[in-house]
Amino acid sequence: MTLPEVAVGFRRFSAPRSANPEVMSMVAQLEAYVRNAYRSAIGRSRRELVTPALILDLDAARRNIQFMARRLSGMKAKLRPHVKVQKSAELARLQIEAGAIGVCTATVWEAIVMSQSGIEDVLIANQVGGKEKIKALATAAKNGRMSVAIDDVQNARDLSDAARAAGSRLEVLIEVDVGMGRGGVRSAEEGASLAQHISKLPGLKLRGVQGYEGHCMSEPDRAVRIEKARAAMDYLGNVVDRLAEAGFACEVVSSGGTGTYDITGNNSRVTEIQAGSYVFMDNFHGNLVPGFSQALTVLGTVVARHGNTVVLDPGRKSIGIDFVLPTMLDYPFYRARYFAEEHALFDVDERCLLKLGDTAELIPGYAPSTVNLYDAYHVVENGTVVDIWPIIPRGPGHIGILAG
Ligand SMILES: Cc1ncc(COP(=O)(O)O)c(C=O)c1O
Repeated sequence: MTLPEVAVGFRRFSAPRSANPEVMSMVAQLEAYVRNAYRSAIGRSRRELVTPALILDLDAARRNIQFMARRLSGMKAKLRPHVKVQKSAELARLQIEAGAIGVCTATVWEAIVMSQSGIEDVLIANQVGGKEKIKALATAAKNGRMSVAIDDVQNARDLSDAARAAGSRLEVLIEVDVGMGRGGVRSAEEGASLAQHISKLPGLKLRGVQGYEGHCMSEPDRAVRIEKARAAMDYLGNVVDRLAEAGFACEVVSSGGTGTYDITGNNSRVTEIQAGSYVFMDNFHGNLVPGFSQALTVLGTVVARHGNTVVLDPGRKSIGIDFVLPTMLDYPFYRARYFAEEHALFDVDERCLLKLGDTAELIPGYAPSTVNLYDAYHVVENGTVVDIWPIIPRGPGHIGILAG
């Protein structure tokens, strides 16, 4: 099996490698299978694909990556893009080439795929629980810097034991709940006590804190969003101070997302921004921050038109409808009535020229849950499919990544 070609020379990006060759070969085989299965699309117009089809407008994604890199170059914090959105080592590579310091992931399998594709600095911005996943994480840490968020003493012990058994060391960030109420220690005291425990565990190295202000992200009023994000970062700053008093200096303070990148990225306490959705700009994020283009669409076919009702084939099993409904790229002013499993229904009027058999591109309501449904991106430049980029891993399935 030939491994996927990889450009060398990128900052923090080396040739593919794996602490577990069996897993690496399995992922390479899956990628080769997907590329081959969709190869007949290469050379076709973006509007002439078997639908529903996931389209990545690479020109727009590149513009987004450059725009974010330019904006963050004037701020203290560095970018560590969240790749749970795009699940693609190819896109991560472009982000790193533009200056990102590494990536963050939501799952162990995303982290393993990124790590073995050559990305040397990976943060799992979530807690990892479960014996097999912890073991796989500890093994992957032999490849390069592998960090993980923790908020619990027992979890810290389990991670340390696994790292020692694997002959690796895991770096950890103490996750702090800054108002979202999800993961994270609930007070500065709890954080300091966890830091004490971590300092006694030989398999772990404490690097700092993570405090994701997800509860501020979708606040539509920018002034309110600024206030809420500031309050969250003030709280995180207090925890950092308390840790410093206890003798634990935080080298890393990781936070932020697409909705707050230019607020939190300007906060003097924050060292890393975890924005991910900026690369695609779905409808959910589209209105929150200006300057980005829509780079991800789903191509659908009109399967019925009845008067002013147009029915397309990407239903909610083909496009993410979380938070905000999808819209049509060419007819942004029409509202979707609803999404059935395999049908999108739009209320249109006589200005809409779509008829049975026509194709139309939809902008997802939410990109992460859209990407998760597809095997591959149809990568488009100048309106034509130029490549197929596999989406591995997706869904809750580990597809064998935990083997060995
Ligand atoms: C821990 C964490 N960091 C950052 C993000 C930001 O993601 P995005 O930029 O896609 O809003 C998320 C989103 O869910 C997250 O869970």
